[in-house]
Amino acid sequence: MKIRPAKKSDKEEILSFCVDTFSWGDYIDRVWDHWFRSGRLLIAEDGGRKIGMSHLAMCPDGRGMWLEGVRVHPDYRRSMIATQLLAKMIEYGRQEGAVQASAIVDVANVASQRMMEKNGFAIVSRWAYYSAEGRPRRSRLAARLATIGELDSIWGYLRRSKIYSLSAKRYVKSWHWYTLDNQALHNFIREKRVIVAGRPVNGVAIINRHGYWDRTNILQVVYLDAASADPLRRLVSFVTNIYLDGKFEEFQLVCHDSTRLTSFIEKFTTKDEEQFLLYNKVFTAKTTLSR
Ligand SMILES: CC(C)(COP(=O)(O)OP(=O)(O)OC[C@H]1O[C@@H](n2cnc3c(N)ncnc32)[C@H](O)[C@@H]1OP(=O)(O)O)[C@@H](O)C(=O)NCCC(=O)NCCS
Repeated sequence: MKIRPAKKSDKEEILSFCVDTFSWGDYIDRVWDHWFRSGRLLIAEDGGRKIGMSHLAMCPDGRGMWLEGVRVHPDYRRSMIATQLLAKMIEYGRQEGAVQASAIVDVANVASQRMMEKNGFAIVSRWAYYSAEGRPRRSRLAARLATIGELDSIWGYLRRSKIYSLSAKRYVKSWHWYTLDNQALHNFIREKRVIVAGRPVNGVAIINRHGYWDRTNILQVVYLDAASADPLRRLVSFVTNIYLDGKFEEFQLVCHDSTRLTSFIEKFTTKDEEQFLLYNKVFTAKTTLSR
């Protein structure tokens, strides 16, 4: 068995077994071309037969790598193929300077959870995802788009927030959970994507108006944090109005899986919901790399 970068001709054979991964199917066909172009798509091959794949992305902070799309042909499972794909991705990521690796796994995917744990990854956070639609009623509770002048007070709120730490200090971008640090927050404020409630700040939502992959007319909340029910209601009201004004086809909420936060979705008609475990592994000094 060898692991090598993907070739254009691999697509069909690999996609043939990326079909029933989740209750709703799989998404690899939607991201393949994009991942192929990234140059970090790996294929496991055995005697000319393509038997596994995975994709590596580097995180914007340059310190983390994101591992995804691990798929092994059903006939070849429990032969350490996924373990070797993980090792190869980690080797690449570390060469590019990453000091930690992360991945997300559905709560129902026990095989993948055991595989991550056997490879030294630990659960650092639990997240909920909802997709919703409908025409929720408007309300006019006060919340606002954050300004750059509020950066320090928002950052101060987050650093003290229990939810921020339960969220493993991450936000979501195209199904990658990246670090929400001061720089990322600064960028989001400039992009008019941060909504705040309260003076002093007692609630923060970060939104994405452009969807992901091939679905661009989706409004997403990609980080959510509220000190109590009141700021949460204010954030819901503000986001609901953006949704209605923007004529989005769908609304998605991705946030730490706590009942208080996920009540956010109650105004909408929920189409789908899932829970995910965020896994992480921190590496020690680079000299321990095996070659
Ligand atoms: C999850 C998946 C990638 C694992 O691939 P694999 O090549 O069989 O995994 P490995 O052989 O490297 O397994 C390493 C360890 O993980 C654990 N593991 C793997 N599959 C398991 C299963 N079905 N049940 C319990 N533990 C399992 C075991 O501890 C295993 O070690 P062991 O065989 O010595 O007991 C594979 O089952 C798969 O492709 N599933 C469908 C796609 C998918 O779910 N991908 C992940 C999405 S997040």
